[in-house]
Amino acid sequence: MRLFLDTANIDEIRRAAAMGVISGVTTNPTLVAREGVDYRARVLEICDVVDGPISAECISTEADDIVAEARRVAAWHPNVVVKVPLTEPGLAAIRRLSAEGIRINTTLIFSANQALLAALAGAAYVSPFVGRLDDAGEDGMTVVSEAVRIFELFHLPTQVLAASIRSPRHVTQAALAGAHVATLPASVLFQMVRHSLTDAGIARFLADAATYSPV
Ligand code: E4P
Repeated sequence: MRLFLDTANIDEIRRAAAMGVISGVTTNPTLVAREGVDYRARVLEICDVVDGPISAECISTEADDIVAEARRVAAWHPNVVVKVPLTEPGLAAIRRLSAEGIRINTTLIFSANQALLAALAGAAYVSPFVGRLDDAGEDGMTVVSEAVRIFELFHLPTQVLAASIRSPRHVTQAALAGAHVATLPASVLFQMVRHSLTDAGIARFLADAATYSPV
């Protein structure tokens, strides 16, 4: 499973990229609004830091408008993947855009059926929002595992991108469910690195190493 970073904060992206384990970034209007920056300029900055799929979201709601906006967004940089929310006009737009070779990340997926529809329309990625489903009293990871299974059964090339990840445990569960990608907030990535026994082990090794001459 690949890991993407779910943020528009360039400092977090630089820090995570330096670890060498991030292969893409996902943004959305909320994440960009939080930064108070120009969307296109920030996406181009991100593309300079991470050489992989960078998702940028369309805000149009009618099919023709989504297609026009997605073409503009896709032209920002060859690594840009355009996020389109799962709606009827969104599906029509995804069909047209994918036929043009524009890679689409279908966002705001909350059921396996929505994931299937997006895959049939030609989306490159579907993003089930695990945390938001959990918040609503459902089991978000079930949507991930069902989508993975359906795509395997019917040899659909669409990748399942587990989104709205809230904890390191979610990352493990997404990997075990067969998700192709998980996109995570920087805080979750940094939590994944740490373990109290690792910290204690390093402290002990350093204390013991202090008793002899350095190599
Ligand atoms: C995915 O691409 C979305 O940007 C993101 O995962 C949404 O997560 P949230 O539910 O924490 O806003």
